[in-house]
Amino acid sequence: MKHIVFLCSLMLAANTSLLSTANAEDLSDWKLPPVPIPADNPQSKAKIKLGHMLAFDTRLSKNNSMSCAGCHLPFAGGGGHTARAFGHGGELGRWAPSWDNAAYSTSMFWDGRAASLEEQTGALPGHMGPISAPGEMGGDPEVVVKKLNAIPAYKNAFHKAFGEDATRQNIAKAIASYERTLIARHSPFQRYVNGDKKALSAAAKRGFKLFQDKAQCTECHTAPLLTDNEFHNIGVPQVGPLKEDSGRYAVTHDADDMGAFKTPSLYNSASFAFFMHDGALSTMKQVIDHYNKGGDPKNAHQSDLIVPLHLTRKEESDLIAFMKSLTDPSLNHIHRPHLP
Ligand code: HEC
Ligand code: HEC
Repeated sequence: MKHIVFLCSLMLAANTSLLSTANAEDLSDWKLPPVPIPADNPQSKAKIKLGHMLAFDTRLSKNNSMSCAGCHLPFAGGGGHTARAFGHGGELGRWAPSWDNAAYSTSMFWDGRAASLEEQTGALPGHMGPISAPGEMGGDPEVVVKKLNAIPAYKNAFHKAFGEDATRQNIAKAIASYERTLIARHSPFQRYVNGDKKALSAAAKRGFKLFQDKAQCTECHTAPLLTDNEFHNIGVPQVGPLKEDSGRYAVTHDADDMGAFKTPSLYNSASFAFFMHDGALSTMKQVIDHYNKGGDPKNAHQSDLIVPLHLTRKEESDLIAFMKSLTDPSLNHIHRPHLP
């Protein structure tokens, strides 16, 4: 008798495990992969710590008034808190996009004009970026190098990380190493695709499904990064100081790229104060409404992939619930480090 009961429960166990494998959705495509690390800039604790300090230090700017984190605010999802960023030259033409998950991007800036995080900083010779751009932090990287080497604790930190004084290259490398740690691994959605079935609400699960089918978001926000690393014109209205922003066209001079911008990774976007290259939209609801009505059909350059979606109100709110599940709260709570 004992044997029969044992056998039965064994069969039952085998059965249920079979059933659950058959029903389990394969979500492995959505897991964030390891961050690509360039061969000439391996990660180290000392470098990341130094990069964290540099990213929050206003002394990297001309008048010691502006830091990277002053435009890429952790609590605002790593993006700007004004519709367009304000630098030394006044209001810029574009909104500061999030630096969360930027480590996966195959090109940097809305138009992809920089090739790497190191290049993006503007510290390297021959590359314009926030540190060197007159309209942004307005600094002279040579002066920044001198300033940092004159601060004993910084000099020390550069020696710990690189075995030498601060240089333009080391500044770029340390900041990039720090940015490679800003990955939304602890978002409910990442917990979900890594096996925690309770991490998503029922609404967010419905939203995830809509994201992939009816709402057609995965045409461009593809797995696993939620970006195809490509450029599209999605019919965003042009607002701000620029009359026109030709976007990717300025880099490629290809007519198909007119008004096309890089597909952003959507992680932590539910915390953004603004959305899109020019900060034209300011709530997630406005973003979803924009897609739902088919963008701007009057925009001659708009992508054919943007079409009316006919989402109901409930479907819109489910999509928003999914977008909220992409927020990694730990990235929103990054503190300003102690600066020497
Ligand atoms: C004055 C505000 C401001 C400051 C200061 C600033 N940024 Fe930005 N950042 C922006 C804006 C605006 C863009 C988009 C510019 C564009 O696309 O032309 C941007 C783009 C980026 C991007 C590209 C993200 C992507 O997905 O393409 C990264 C990374 C970045 N900044 C990191 C930094 C770092 C590191 C610093 C400090 C060295 C810094 N930023 C300082 C406003 C700022
Ligand atoms: C044709 C490709 C494409 C499709 C389809 C698409 N997106 Fe986008 N998405 C983009 C591009 C490109 C941008 C940036 C456009 C700009 O700034 O002008 C963007 C921007 C966004 C932003 C703002 C993020 C930021 O950093 O400012 C959100 C949120 C967003 N998309 C969500 C969605 C959702 C939700 C869907 C489905 C309803 C969707 N997208 C469909 C390409 C696409």
